[in-house]
Amino acid sequence: MFKVNENYLNLRGSYLFSNIAKKVAAFTEANPDKEIIRLGIGDVTRPLTPTIINAINKATDEMAHEETFRGYAPDLGYDFLRNAIAEHDYKARGCNIEPDEIFVSDGAKSDSGNIQEIFSVDNKIAVCDPVYPVYVDSNVMAGRTGTFNEATEQWSNVVYMPSTAENGFVPALPEGDAPDIIYLCLPNNPTGTTLKKEELQKWVDYANEHKSVIIFDAAYEAYISEIDIPHSIYECKGAETCAIELRSFSKNAGFTGVRLGFTVVPKALKSADGHALHPLWARRHGTKFNGAPYIQQRAGEAVYSAEGQKEIKGLVAYYMENAKMICEGLEAAGFTVYGGVNAPYIWMKTPDNMSSWDFFDYLLKEVNVVGTPGSGFGPSGEGYFRLTAFGKHENTKAAIERIKSIKL
Ligand code: MLT
Repeated sequence: MFKVNENYLNLRGSYLFSNIAKKVAAFTEANPDKEIIRLGIGDVTRPLTPTIINAINKATDEMAHEETFRGYAPDLGYDFLRNAIAEHDYKARGCNIEPDEIFVSDGAKSDSGNIQEIFSVDNKIAVCDPVYPVYVDSNVMAGRTGTFNEATEQWSNVVYMPSTAENGFVPALPEGDAPDIIYLCLPNNPTGTTLKKEELQKWVDYANEHKSVIIFDAAYEAYISEIDIPHSIYECKGAETCAIELRSFSKNAGFTGVRLGFTVVPKALKSADGHALHPLWARRHGTKFNGAPYIQQRAGEAVYSAEGQKEIKGLVAYYMENAKMICEGLEAAGFTVYGGVNAPYIWMKTPDNMSSWDFFDYLLKEVNVVGTPGSGFGPSGEGYFRLTAFGKHENTKAAIERIKSIKL
């Protein structure tokens, strides 16, 4: 008689973006004549750029010939891509990361959910609140989060590090017992906040001192516009002994439908009892993953070519124009907004102290605009709402006009 993994029964409803998709589908079915504008999930809308398309076409062509056909990719990634990543994302920024410390994958979402598997179930996690919901959900699945408190909306075994307007969305270092695993997402999804290098250095020093590990999600690093913000945690001294970094091609190069990302696990990173994480993650990759497809990895390599770099800067600029349009439009209409400077997300206060989900329902029903309720990212997100800058210009402009028209 089989039984299910009971940890899964502890999950709170559907995954945030699946929940939103269901609500929007139900609304659309009931209101087929309404034209909905989606600024909810952070999904890109610009097509892949010419250099990337050429690389995909060339790699696809190779697959058609016996001499150049490829079967299984190396499970940790092709050298051509790992070398390009090490060169451009790390060596160029003065970070001491070698190609064989880079694990190519099908995206940062899977890696951010899977990486917790190599840690003890007894480890205590800390998350910024609000933050990307995959971190907590995947730890619930692992049975690491304890019990859920309905009143506080918190898990008993999770350290929440509130990031609110009151602290400028910059979480304080944990007090008391040090957490074992600290998730940092910078630029932050959803608030858009960043840390300067000296601020991030304090987290690295804290982690090294307390033998904690930082899981640093840098999926939005391409959106950093200010000069004194690190793009990688390895720009900080000593990060190789305490940090794992997650990266994605989704947001910088528009690969949300292509699927490609990578995780850096430095060889110097060891648990308090001396176990290196690198071979464990390699073992996990080898067992559960057959490598990201050749065609995708060639597309990833093209991102680092001179032309590719120019083109993806254009994509980022396009989305950041949307971010500016959203911020300026909402501010002019009297809304309080944050983010949108180093990140493609705008974090706004809901008007009239509406709850995040009430505002979601209101916007969907009254002006047919979809956003993301802040409370879906954690209890401190209650009373906030996230809009993505990844839409098309014309839709973004129209959505802002619609939001400005609401009379509460
Ligand atoms: C988001 O909207 O937060 C992201 O698109 C989710 C993701 O990257 O998986």
